[in-house]
Amino acid sequence: MKELSPIAFFDSGYGGLTILERVRALMPEYDYLYLGDNARNPYGTRSFDVVYQYTKECVEKLFELGSPLVILACNTASAKALRNIQQNDLPLSDDPSRRVLGVIRPSVEQLGRISKTKHVGVFATQGTVNSNSYPLETAKIWPYIIIHQQACPMWVPIVENNEFDGDGADFYIQKYVDALMKQSPLIDTIILACTHYPLLLKKIRKYLPNGIQIISQGDIIAHSLQEYLAHHPEMQRRISRGASVRFLTTESCSKFEDTASIFFSGDLNVQHISLDR
Ligand code: DGL
Repeated sequence: MKELSPIAFFDSGYGGLTILERVRALMPEYDYLYLGDNARNPYGTRSFDVVYQYTKECVEKLFELGSPLVILACNTASAKALRNIQQNDLPLSDDPSRRVLGVIRPSVEQLGRISKTKHVGVFATQGTVNSNSYPLETAKIWPYIIIHQQACPMWVPIVENNEFDGDGADFYIQKYVDALMKQSPLIDTIILACTHYPLLLKKIRKYLPNGIQIISQGDIIAHSLQEYLAHHPEMQRRISRGASVRFLTTESCSKFEDTASIFFSGDLNVQHISLDR
């Protein structure tokens, strides 16, 4: 019998907390472990190989700490590392029954149900846009949906520097919103395909034409994880139920605590972690 362990969440920094918060609201009974690679973020501007390598190291650390299930609560990592980890690394690992899940597929599954015009806008990091993951995944499920992508390289730094509510943020929010809407006047649905962006929601809405639906990923991922666990009792049985949440950061704990409190309401029980082997 394997020891019971928390569900692990990984993000390059703080953005994954927007997902963890919604997951915890839906399933408060489980234990959760969050790892932010704050010392090495942002990932969104890094190359495919670097994001894959960093993500792999973090996933291995979370496995080493006992979690059988790791959620990549980061679109950039999901876009650039998930497939390799699932198809190449996991099967060769010492416990191939562990699982790594991403955030792109469950988000894309919702698009056809929401968009009426079948023109969907995607705000994401440069890395996620370059990977083409959203158009490719969408084409598999909803071949008639047209995806319009807009990279927003300044949004993560604005959020990470706690400027998401400040006047300075408006310039770059309007800039990327206008650039996306110029791609097609038919866009009726927009997905915030970066886990940092829900913090900018109020300002994004301010610059978007009325009537456009904005999809944040938190609730989508929460429901899809709930469904996954319901369909995988063998995994559910491996998850501990102590209603706790612990945080790990590759940065200093005090820096993590200061910023994480913006993203996550609740006690921050944080520990520094080194990824050196
Ligand atoms: N939160 C990450 C995402 O969802 C990106 C942040 C970063 O660039 O590190 O894509």
